[in-house]
Amino acid sequence: MYQKAKRKANSVCKAIRFWYLSLSLPFVMPKTLTSSRFKTLLLVLSLFFNLYILFFSHAPQFLISSYSSSSSSPTTRRHLLFAIASSSGSWPRRKPYLRLWYSPASTRAFAFLDREAPESAGDGSVAPVIISGDTSRFPYTVRGGLRSAIRVARVVKEVVDRGEPDVRWFVFGDDDTVFFVDNLVKTLSKYDHDRWYYIGSNSESYMQNVKYSFDMAFGGGGFAISHSLARVLATVFDSCLMRYGHLYGSDSRVFSCVAELGIGLTHEPGFHQVDMRGNLLGMLSAHPLSPLVSLHHLGAAEPIFPNMNNTQALEHLFQAMNADPARILQQTVCYDRTHSLTVSVAWGYAIQVHDGNELLPDLLSPQKTFMPWRRSRNVEASQYMFKMRDYPRDTCKRPTIFYLESLISNSHGISSNYTRHTVENCSKANAIKNLEHIRVISQKLELDVEEMKAPRRQCCTILGSSSNDSMTINIRRCRDDELISMNI
Ligand SMILES: *[C@@H]1O[C@H](CO)[C@@H](O)[C@H](O)[C@H]1NC(C)=O
Ligand SMILES: *[C@@H]1O[C@H](CO)[C@@H](O)[C@H](O)[C@H]1NC(C)=O
Ligand SMILES: *[C@@H]1O[C@H](CO)[C@@H](O)[C@H](O)[C@H]1NC(C)=O
Ligand SMILES: *[C@@H]1O[C@H](CO)[C@@H](O)[C@H](O)[C@H]1NC(C)=O
Repeated sequence: MYQKAKRKANSVCKAIRFWYLSLSLPFVMPKTLTSSRFKTLLLVLSLFFNLYILFFSHAPQFLISSYSSSSSSPTTRRHLLFAIASSSGSWPRRKPYLRLWYSPASTRAFAFLDREAPESAGDGSVAPVIISGDTSRFPYTVRGGLRSAIRVARVVKEVVDRGEPDVRWFVFGDDDTVFFVDNLVKTLSKYDHDRWYYIGSNSESYMQNVKYSFDMAFGGGGFAISHSLARVLATVFDSCLMRYGHLYGSDSRVFSCVAELGIGLTHEPGFHQVDMRGNLLGMLSAHPLSPLVSLHHLGAAEPIFPNMNNTQALEHLFQAMNADPARILQQTVCYDRTHSLTVSVAWGYAIQVHDGNELLPDLLSPQKTFMPWRRSRNVEASQYMFKMRDYPRDTCKRPTIFYLESLISNSHGISSNYTRHTVENCSKANAIKNLEHIRVISQKLELDVEEMKAPRRQCCTILGSSSNDSMTINIRRCRDDELISMNI
């Protein structure tokens, strides 16, 4: 209610501002205007003003009137409805991804398959399966493309048409999209679900964005559509699909139909399409300040922790995620001036210790540890949407890496342990040479919506160590004027 009133007040304010302008305009007009032109001008302006009042000030009300949800209560997990695009072929091997983030008690989700899969029924640990409707009447003309793109795009309509109650956001993803649900809830809380929003992220790959669009939410990274937009989109979706037989993917279709409704993408950097292969360390260790919302394509990358398979590695990451979702992968950098060390923590995942003073802005760029998604000779294929740091070929020149080993969470805070990943027998500075363990102490990161809108990186301190083989780091809020640098 409060928000509606505010919105109304806003449009009245705008109207008054407009009126004021139209009155004051004549006084700044050149003297050459005759008084009759003057009157005409006033007349025309007041006509515009009246039209404005008549149409535009009513528009927001018209948009709101058909929804009854109470906007003022905080958005929770139950307000999100996930629709996962899968197929009978991929479902059995992708179920482990869903088990990571889906829980029947707190998450609402459906998986859309082309037909029954061998193990699609009666498994409470994954989302209930729905068989998609027939799409044979829609055109598909991309040679070498997959017609299933239409079925997958149409999940947008099919999930809305189910008429599930109390949905504020419809969230779409693939069966190999891993969602970080609490962070997604927090991220979406920044936006008014009664407004029309299409929220997601483009590809990390420059070439992919050139090919599809810089302003398209890539489907594998997942995207969210506010219920108000989704309901309208569902009613026009089939007629819109008829125009886009020439498009390759499902996400292009959704993007096109949302665009036809006049809505553009709201970029949220926590969604990750992950159009890359190999070692994701560089990308995961330099996450933007926004909370991690999704990861995709992990089956094509190396397991994110050494000596584990993919599923185990993700389960390991989720242990940290469950203890402190908002902090997962968040990068904190601290300096040990005495030993000339720079320590970069990607919380819950890995710590990199550099010998010497590395400036903070340099550490915020991902290291190029990965390879492009598309194997191509084209130079553009290996260009990304961010500046990258070199990752030395000589393993001895790389920072020393410590991966998350274990963590304990209690009322005093969270203590996470990281152990050294030894690659080779390199000669390192004394301060690093014997370092085997790093312990990180932190408090659960609880951000309210206002803090989410203007996030600030946290600071850390390296606490005195009692032995040469371990180091303890305390992550904390920065002081107002604290600089993250070696010289404090
Ligand atoms: C990963 O390892 C676990 C435990 O050893 C095993 O149960 C699981 O089948 C493995 N997953 C894959 C995909 O190999
Ligand atoms: C972390 O390591 C320290 C020292 O190696 C140990 O005392 C502590 O119990 C470990 N904590 C966890 C959470 O494993
Ligand atoms: C590592 O290198 C040192 C000196 O180069 C050598 O003495 C030591 O045996 C090596 N250790 C291993 C495990 O290779
Ligand atoms: C740390 O290492 C130095 C020399 O490498 C040694 O003199 C000192 O005793 C060690 N300290 C501890 C606590 O092990």
